[in-house]
Amino acid sequence: MGVFLKGRSLLSLMDFTKDEIRYVLDLSHKLKNEKGDNKNQQRLLSKTVALLFEKRSTRTRCSFETAVGEEGGSSVFLSTDDIHLGEKESIEDTARVLGRMFSAIMFRGFHQETAEKLRKFSGVPVYNGLTDEFHPTQVLADLLTIEEAFGRLKGIKVAYVGDGRNNMALTLMIGCAKMGTHCTIVAPPSLHPAGNVVDYSQHVAETTGTDVSITSSIDEGVSQADVIYTDVWISMGEEDRKDERIRLLKDYQINAALMKKTGLDHSIFLHCLPAVKGMEVTEEVFESPYSRVFEQAENRKHTIKALLLATLL
Ligand code: CP
Ligand code: NVA
Repeated sequence: MGVFLKGRSLLSLMDFTKDEIRYVLDLSHKLKNEKGDNKNQQRLLSKTVALLFEKRSTRTRCSFETAVGEEGGSSVFLSTDDIHLGEKESIEDTARVLGRMFSAIMFRGFHQETAEKLRKFSGVPVYNGLTDEFHPTQVLADLLTIEEAFGRLKGIKVAYVGDGRNNMALTLMIGCAKMGTHCTIVAPPSLHPAGNVVDYSQHVAETTGTDVSITSSIDEGVSQADVIYTDVWISMGEEDRKDERIRLLKDYQINAALMKKTGLDHSIFLHCLPAVKGMEVTEEVFESPYSRVFEQAENRKHTIKALLLATLL
């Protein structure tokens, strides 16, 4: 069966099949290789993308803006300080206006429901650039980075250590399950992920011959892990939980001793960034040769460009 992504939205990796993710990753590899060729393809000429931000961003905003710009399209950055979204004007009305002016919409904000309403009422592709629940464009870049490091995704083991119920943990479970990559969430019991996403991922994992598991044991969780992944302990919007999170997660810091516990000498370290060094990861690990965080950051742009080309052309 062929892959046809034109007109599609990406609100969660649940929206894409394994073959569709594979298509975006293959296109991303190709676009990354084109980078040095100085090709001026202009494949998004006359395409326009609205970039809606309720939360801050460096990588996601810059990836979308540069990907669209390099391909001859244009994007408009709209923070909640700039537009009426959800204040003076409903999300439904904003969506209907933007849908008449733009080829696509990217949304970064709090509620997944807002992204869903934008999709329902705009009539154009909507990309989730991070919500409290999911961060699908990040995990496309993570998968690309893992594939570059090991030449495959199938059978690779990822151990995500940290806040197991945040957007990164939930999205990694889904992405890994779809691509046949083992995923273990290593977190204290009170930060274990929510049931429905776990159930979904474990069900998908059965079909791809892999497993998604959750543990509080660092030794058990990171053993034989090819990839150690972490994220901030306090996600955007949760700043008032700082003391509680530090108390819960201080033993889950990624340091050189934890990296040794994989028992493998080829394990790599990933982090979606921004990182708070000295908290979830030590400076030593962050700056080590096995840290691939800046390749991972660059891959945001290649995967986002691939997503735009696949869904807009
Ligand atoms: N990883 C990520 O989404 O980074 P930004 O918050 O800088 O966009
Ligand atoms: N979990 C983090 C991811 C940042 C890219 C947050 O939501 O702030």
